Amino acid sequence: MTNDSFSRLRRLRSNSTLRDMLAETRLSASEFIYPMFVVNGTGVRTPIEPMPGIDQMSVDVAVEEAQKAYEAGVKSVLLFGIPDEKDAAGSKSRSPDEAVQQAVAAIKKASPDTYVITDVCLCEYTDHGHCGIVNESGVDNDATVPLLAETAVSHARAGADMVAPSAMMDGQVAAIRAGLNENGFTDTPIMGYSAKYASAFYGPFRIAAGSTPQFGDRKGYQMAPTQSREAMREIEADIDDGADLIMVKPALAYLDVIKEASIRFDAPIVAYNVSGEYSMLAAAGSAGWLERERATMEVLTAIKRAGADLIITYSAIEAARLLA
Ligand code: PBG
Repeated sequence: MTNDSFSRLRRLRSNSTLRDMLAETRLSASEFIYPMFVVNGTGVRTPIEPMPGIDQMSVDVAVEEAQKAYEAGVKSVLLFGIPDEKDAAGSKSRSPDEAVQQAVAAIKKASPDTYVITDVCLCEYTDHGHCGIVNESGVDNDATVPLLAETAVSHARAGADMVAPSAMMDGQVAAIRAGLNENGFTDTPIMGYSAKYASAFYGPFRIAAGSTPQFGDRKGYQMAPTQSREAMREIEADIDDGADLIMVKPALAYLDVIKEASIRFDAPIVAYNVSGEYSMLAAAGSAGWLERERATMEVLTAIKRAGADLIITYSAIEAARLLA
C-alpha cells in the first residue's frame, strides 16, 4: 500500500470522458462573429492572399456566405466595406448605395435571423488610409466624430442590428448613440472597439481592405502595446458614453487585458482574433509546421478562458464545424 505524500492530479486526466466533463472552458459557435469584406459589383469573390479561405465578396456572394455561416451555427457577421473610390473625407462610408449598406439589407432580407453588425470607420474609405479627417497636426478628432455618427446611422437605416465603431476617436460612442437615438434607432446596440491597440497584427486586414495609411501610422489614436491601465480607462469611457458591449483587440497578445477587463467590468466583452493571428496559423499550417485546426481551437479556447464572451474570428465557420 502506498501512502502518497503528494497530489495525484493526473487521476482526473486519465479518461477522455472525464476530461470532457471537467472542461472549465467550452466554446460554442453561438459566441463567434464572422467578419466579411464586401465590395461593389456582382459575382465577385476575390481571394485575400495573406488570409487563405477569406475573400472580398460582392453583395450577392456575401449573402450566400452569411447563409453558409448561419448553417454552420455562426449566426452573426461583422461587415467591412471596400469602396471603388476613396477620397480625403471617406465620403463613401455613409452612402446608402455602397457595398456595406447594400449587403446589410440583402443579408437581412435573405437570412433575417442572421445578426448583422457593421464596422464603423473611415479608413477603408479615405484615400490617405487614416481613420478620420486629416489636418496639419494629424487626425482631427472632433471633425471626424460627426462623420462616424453619420456612417453609423446610414448602417442602421440599411437595417444593421448593431454598429461597431473602430476609429478610436474620443467621443465616437457618445456621438453615435446620439445620432442613432435622434433617428429613431434607440434599440440599436453599440459595440465599442474600446481597447484597440496600434498593432502589427492588422497587416493582412490592411492588404484586404486597402487601408494601409499612406503616411505616418495610427499611433496618435490607437493605443500602445505597453498599456494596460489605459485600456481600462478607454473601456470605462466607452461604457460611460453608452457602449453596450466592449472590445479588446487584438486578442492573442492581449489576453491579460481581456482578463483584467472581465474582472473589472460587467458589460459583455468581445475579443477580436485579428487578421495577423489568422494568417500566422494559416501560414504555419500550410508549411506543415503545426496542426492548423488544433492550433485554431487552442487559440479560441485561450481567448474564451481569458474572459471573452464573444469572439470575432475569421476561423468562425471552420471552428463551428469542428465543434459540431
Ligand atoms: C478599421 C479596422 C481595422 C481592423 C478592424 N477595423 C484596421 C486598422 O485599424 O488598421 C483590423 C482587423 C483585423 O486585423 O482583422 N479601423
